[in-house]
Amino acid sequence: MAKYTVVTMPGDGIGNQVMPEALRLLKAVGFDAEYMHADIGWDCWRREGNALPERTIELLAKHKLGLFGAITSKPKKEAEAELKPELRGKGYSYFSPIVTMRQLFHLDTCIRPCISFPGNPLNFVRQKPDGGFEEPLVDVVVFRQNTEGLYAGVEWTNPPAQVRAALATHPKFKPFAETPGPDLAVSVRIITRSAARKICRAAFEWARKYGYTSVTICEKPNVLRETSGMMEEEAKAVAKEYSPIRLQSTNIDAQTMWLTKNPEDYGVVVASNLFGDVISDAFAGLIGGLGFAASGNIGDDVAVFEPTHGSAPKYAELDPPIVNPIAMFLSAVMLLQHVGESEKAMRLRDAIAAVVRDGRVRTYDMMRIPGGAKAISQGAASTLQMTDAVLTKLQPWEHSHTALEFVAAGTAIKRVD
Ligand code: NAI
Ligand code: MG
Repeated sequence: MAKYTVVTMPGDGIGNQVMPEALRLLKAVGFDAEYMHADIGWDCWRREGNALPERTIELLAKHKLGLFGAITSKPKKEAEAELKPELRGKGYSYFSPIVTMRQLFHLDTCIRPCISFPGNPLNFVRQKPDGGFEEPLVDVVVFRQNTEGLYAGVEWTNPPAQVRAALATHPKFKPFAETPGPDLAVSVRIITRSAARKICRAAFEWARKYGYTSVTICEKPNVLRETSGMMEEEAKAVAKEYSPIRLQSTNIDAQTMWLTKNPEDYGVVVASNLFGDVISDAFAGLIGGLGFAASGNIGDDVAVFEPTHGSAPKYAELDPPIVNPIAMFLSAVMLLQHVGESEKAMRLRDAIAAVVRDGRVRTYDMMRIPGGAKAISQGAASTLQMTDAVLTKLQPWEHSHTALEFVAAGTAIKRVD
């Protein structure tokens, strides 16, 4: 029997292209795992009226470790129209299965490392005052609260009378009081103190463990006084226990500007759900974008790892596939680290780093050419060729390395002599 069981959920579109490639690498690195396929996504919705079927939930509840590709999501009305005819008008509502999964399994901590690979032509470069250019090393790990905030799903168009009545008790609701129900949409931003504390603590723990000197709380407490206010309050309280790690506080809007000026000023960044989603994409843009952005959704019991990109339907049918599988590979690296297989995580990450550094095998995004059927004839590597390149760089484990203490930070693994 294998030591681990991983529930694999390729999902839709390019999720089906990158998942098998990640599994090839996990096997090559000697990860002792059995893989259980589970259905998720748009086809499930169309056929069954449920994008996250019960059988998938059961598999995850049992095995507690998941690797997810990507899903397709569409707005409410389009989703309803694509249901198979017998299910239409029966009250089925589409919910994003990944958001549901996060809530169902309390995957409240989302970790999104944004760490540049030397040699990546997509790395952020900055102009120097003398006219030259420099490439600051980005080494940021975003901690995003994953279950609350504006993504909690408490929202209405045409809110019921009790909700309107409750809103009317707030003096600031006055300008909206006369808006007709169908013209009024409300999304509630819910933050609980315990979840705020937990995500802040997770961020500081990471900083301490992996040697980051600062944690930045990225919110907007000057305007969102209650919700962002509570996040900041908790960050300050937690910070007291983690001296000398510095707590920095930035506003989400200013942060999106500052990160392209001085990305090296940031280490661990912590934020509520929506702001964490935004800021992690912004940092990911500095290190190569969606082809390089991996994430872990971690709960007390269950953990699911996924690239942050979506199903990219426009490339899903191409044969051979052209999309960059590195984000999926880095998700596999995170999974290895999470279960304590740091040596395998490091070998895999080193192999990816070596391919990027070499620069001979690059997917279309890394060449900055348009994606599409022509990309391969223009010299882009296919998804499979990228995997093959990483496979050739997988070094056998050298015993000499065991003399070093390995510290795994996000997907970047730092060696400490
Ligand atoms: P997307 O991430 O699927 O694609 C946006 C663009 O980024 C693509 O057209 C492609 O140019 C590029 N891209 C994405 N992944 C890439 C990769 N691995 N290599 C190279 N280039 C890559 O986002 P989009 O187009 O906004 O959404 C498509 C579908 O995916 C939608 O239905 C959306 O709801 C869903 N989605 C799902 C997510 C998830 O499963 N976690 C996250 C984001 C979007
Ligand atoms: Mg996002």
